[in-house]
Amino acid sequence: MLTMPTPQAVLSPLTTSSLFLVLTVDPGGEPVVRELLADLSGIERSIGFNHPEGELSVVVGIGSEVWERLLDGPRPAELHPFPELRGSRHRAPSTPGDLLFHIRATRQDLCFSLGSEVMARLRGSVTVVDEVSGFGYLDRRDLLGFVDGTENPGGQTAVDAVVIGAEDPDFAGGSYVIVQKYLHDLDAWERLPVEQQEQIIGRRKLSNVEIDTPGSHVVLNTITDPDGTERKILRDNMPFGSPGRGEFGTYFIGYARTPAVTEEMLRHMFLGDGPVSHDRILDFSTAVTGTLFFVPTADLLDDLGDEPPATADERGSLGIGDLKTR
Ligand code: HEM
Repeated sequence: MLTMPTPQAVLSPLTTSSLFLVLTVDPGGEPVVRELLADLSGIERSIGFNHPEGELSVVVGIGSEVWERLLDGPRPAELHPFPELRGSRHRAPSTPGDLLFHIRATRQDLCFSLGSEVMARLRGSVTVVDEVSGFGYLDRRDLLGFVDGTENPGGQTAVDAVVIGAEDPDFAGGSYVIVQKYLHDLDAWERLPVEQQEQIIGRRKLSNVEIDTPGSHVVLNTITDPDGTERKILRDNMPFGSPGRGEFGTYFIGYARTPAVTEEMLRHMFLGDGPVSHDRILDFSTAVTGTLFFVPTADLLDDLGDEPPATADERGSLGIGDLKTR
């Protein structure tokens, strides 16, 4: 009987604390990284087991450029570097990242503890590109003051939106994830009358009720197939910031079964759609990072400790990139 591979905890519920770590793998660091990835579920269990109320989970993403250095065999069909977007007013940069650790819990100390264990194992083998601690803010609001996450899919709709199936059988059970770190100009945003903020977002600020506003953030991110079916992603955006430094941001994270859906949303936001030149949320929010990762199944990660991948030379001479070893 065929068993379905186990996905990582992509679908775990939204939490109030998170830690986002984006790293690049230093030359020669690959064996250490592979061993850590194979041990990660055990480390997460060790820290989370005696704090069940903490709902600790971790999801690892692997970037396009490091894939062959870490894994043998085929490559996920749609894994590629994050495509930079240059609109008439705003730019979505593409920034480095070989590994993403998306750590979630209801308590910041658990995220910190797991992040510390991961870095204790990886230090000397990786370079930290970005580290962001996100927090739940008021009643699930972003720092622009709006409730964020309402239209996230749930149940089977979420599974259908984020878990790869028969379209890429070698990687069934996996997902793609795109992250972007946004910094807000909150002074400028707060100078806008609330009615104008609501037109930009497409929802009422206090009640969170959707309003019909052409060109709003909600409208630009509502993507439909030619047959009218809506294409969803699963977001777990987190506010972050530092009042002392005057830094206020949203860490965007979107999981999907294909990166094409999230990329289309981003094209609408940065390049516009029809008469709309761009998402006005961007007049108050600057994207400073942008990276795409593949999220392998938990089974694939667990197996990583078993066999080292072929070296670049071996891959070249044997054409191993074409072989399917799993
Ligand atoms: C500055 C960063 C961002 C902020 C503060 C933000 C905030 C929001 C808010 C408040 C909503 C309405 C409530 C909800 O359904 O969640 C929303 C909806 C949404 N956002 Fe964003 N967002 C940001 C970036 C993005 C990006 C980069 C994408 C996609 C690439 C995106 C995709 C969506 C989608 C798909 C919806 C739901 C649309 C629907 O109603 O079906 N957002 N966002």
